[in-house]
Amino acid sequence: MIDPRPGLISRRLEGVGEIIAVSSGKGGVGKSMVASTLALRLAETGHSVGLLDLDFTSPATHVILGIDGLFPEEAYGIIPPVAHGIKYMSIIHFALDKPAPLRGADVSDAIIELLAITLWGDLDRLIIDMPPGLGDATLDVIRFVEGIRFLVVTTPSKVAYETVRKQLALLNTLRVPVIGVIENMAMKPSDYVSLNVENDGALYLGAIGYDEGLEESLGDEARLKETKFYGEASKLYFKIN
Ligand SMILES: Nc1ncnc2c1ncn2[C@@H]1O[C@H](COP(=O)(O)OP(=O)(O)OP(=O)(O)O)[C@@H](O)[C@H]1O
Ligand SMILES: [Mg+2]
Repeated sequence: MIDPRPGLISRRLEGVGEIIAVSSGKGGVGKSMVASTLALRLAETGHSVGLLDLDFTSPATHVILGIDGLFPEEAYGIIPPVAHGIKYMSIIHFALDKPAPLRGADVSDAIIELLAITLWGDLDRLIIDMPPGLGDATLDVIRFVEGIRFLVVTTPSKVAYETVRKQLALLNTLRVPVIGVIENMAMKPSDYVSLNVENDGALYLGAIGYDEGLEESLGDEARLKETKFYGEASKLYFKIN
């Protein structure tokens, strides 16, 4: 049987101006922090914005933004609930806080399903928080989401950057546009990442420092907006167009 859903996805996204996947070959580098605060900053500066959490194993954007107890409405599709001015879609609306273990094929199926059922309406930008790595989720969004661009996050560590380098090469081979690379959790001034990013043919957007006060602000939108992280990140987000 032919799956009708991939064809539906482009119709569901036709009112969305720009689609940005926040991604990294490496885990734990701050993708969810960047995706959440980018959506928050866009909403704060008057953009209509959606946030889609595609990390089914460890969804985190609801924890960062303090989103709880929202239920999407059904109307020939699913209408994403609004939190802090952001249209918000995540597996947590359905799996709540229960674990959602999925095999590769089921990950693809769940991604296609979420993309095919969500009624985003008109949006300036849709931000997608990607799971770590270059696996199914990355290949699926590239395949199903026309015009998607990648915002890549790394830390200053060589270990992280080596994987990010492979990711940049893959995106280049697949001809997927890369907006640029954000260096997160910078501890001291260093040009290691910026030089490598340039060498790898991508745009270095700048660094966000390690913020010791970040943890206690998670889950509280107002406090999050006062953090050093949010201040530094907002200056970089301004460069994304
Ligand atoms: N600049 C920073 N300063 C301090 N802590 C940070 C910073 N950036 C992220 N963190 C913290 O590091 C942890 C990992 O961040 P986050 O969950 O955003 O990473 P991730 O790349 O999305 O991880 P995963 O690969 O599991 O999805 C979180 O506890 C987050 O609060
Ligand atoms: Mg994450």
